[in-house]
Amino acid sequence: MIKVDISNVWGQVSLPDLLAMEKEVFAAHQTLTEGSGAGNDFLGWLDLPVNEPTEEILRIEKAAKQIRADSDVFVVIGIGGSYLGPRAAIELLQGPNHNIGKGKGDPQIFFAGNGLSTRHWNELMGLLEGKDFSIAIISKSGTTTEPAIATRGLRWLLERKYGTDGARKRTYAITDPAKGALRQMAAQEGWETFTIPPDVGGRFSVLSPVGLLPLAVAGIDIMELMRGAYEAKTTYDLRSFENPVWLYAACRNLLYRHGKKIELFESYEPGFRMLGGWWQQLFGESEGKDGKGIFPATAELTADLHSLGQMIQEGERNIFETMVRFDPPAQRYTIGSDLQNLDGLNYLAGKTLDFVDEKAYLGTMAAHVDGGVPVICMDVGELNDRKMGELFYFLELSCGVSAYILGVNPFNQPGVEMYKRNMFRLLGKPGYEAK
Ligand code: PA5
Repeated sequence: MIKVDISNVWGQVSLPDLLAMEKEVFAAHQTLTEGSGAGNDFLGWLDLPVNEPTEEILRIEKAAKQIRADSDVFVVIGIGGSYLGPRAAIELLQGPNHNIGKGKGDPQIFFAGNGLSTRHWNELMGLLEGKDFSIAIISKSGTTTEPAIATRGLRWLLERKYGTDGARKRTYAITDPAKGALRQMAAQEGWETFTIPPDVGGRFSVLSPVGLLPLAVAGIDIMELMRGAYEAKTTYDLRSFENPVWLYAACRNLLYRHGKKIELFESYEPGFRMLGGWWQQLFGESEGKDGKGIFPATAELTADLHSLGQMIQEGERNIFETMVRFDPPAQRYTIGSDLQNLDGLNYLAGKTLDFVDEKAYLGTMAAHVDGGVPVICMDVGELNDRKMGELFYFLELSCGVSAYILGVNPFNQPGVEMYKRNMFRLLGKPGYEAK
């Protein structure tokens, strides 16, 4: 079980305040699982985890095997909820440099269609030069501009390289079962398709084919991931403050009510940055509405202590931290001894790097708590494929419960449409002419 320790928030909020929230948290959890709240037509993610492979999971594993065998590079096209989850899991489990030295058998994985940068596009074109590659187009609506532009370019490249037939075999589409331009295109072109269930929103879709195909191509055991999530479904169904989901959801709302408007979700792992990005979308899009919401920010320590550290320690006291900890890997690094000791580090000789990391963590936490920044600690334990599934489900459930405590619909995102309308008008898209 993921452990949530709230002993470092008591300077800011009190235990009676927290306990007084029991009924509220119970109601929020019940609203979610009974499907009686706003947005209840988007609760399919609650039941995505499975213990045994479905027909679709077997197809995903087969497709991944094919892609691994015949591609140096796998390009995943998608934006927001259609790419952040798989990228987060790959970087956390395999490290931010996971692509180095890879090729056929264990392909490199690049992400496209998550922005409009020409530099990024040019870089991708360079990376694909002389390489065998396959693509997955991920879009629930099938109409999102950024992935649609990347799809057009990459399809053309595939067809030029492999011909129509060859390109077809290297193109996979993950989209709504019936609706949207991508579904139509896939049917017309004869691409293999996987389904995003209609009742699963983008930011809650990582345990659907959206996450599973890229993760399987990355060599991650997707059934282990699913089993971790499946167990989480039972483990975190507990209706009491012994449930870490309750502690996290209640505590962050209580801190918000006490003026802590920014949550800094952080870890001491460099591979964590994209998980931070996924979490940011999950909580930001779910909670930031109706003039409410905790601003979700992320940081990677100790790196960001040398950039954000000053602000955290002495800036406006409107921040709380959620510190995610993982067990160190079995293979440790021991700091060596140096005869000259010019760097003065011999006092650490014989100590492991994770020993130093632990002290940095404890020292930093004490400093921040003293400085008026409460810290929620989330201890994930050993990091592996199974635990990754558990963590995804744990955070999704926490988000649903937390948003209902906040009093918003966790499953819509009306604010995201505003920029699109303006952009389409400026681009001259038919139907978006200036009124
Ligand atoms: O959470 C969401 O719904 C969004 O972030 C979407 O995932 C994102 O906008 C991409 O949409 P689509 O999958 O329809 O291309």
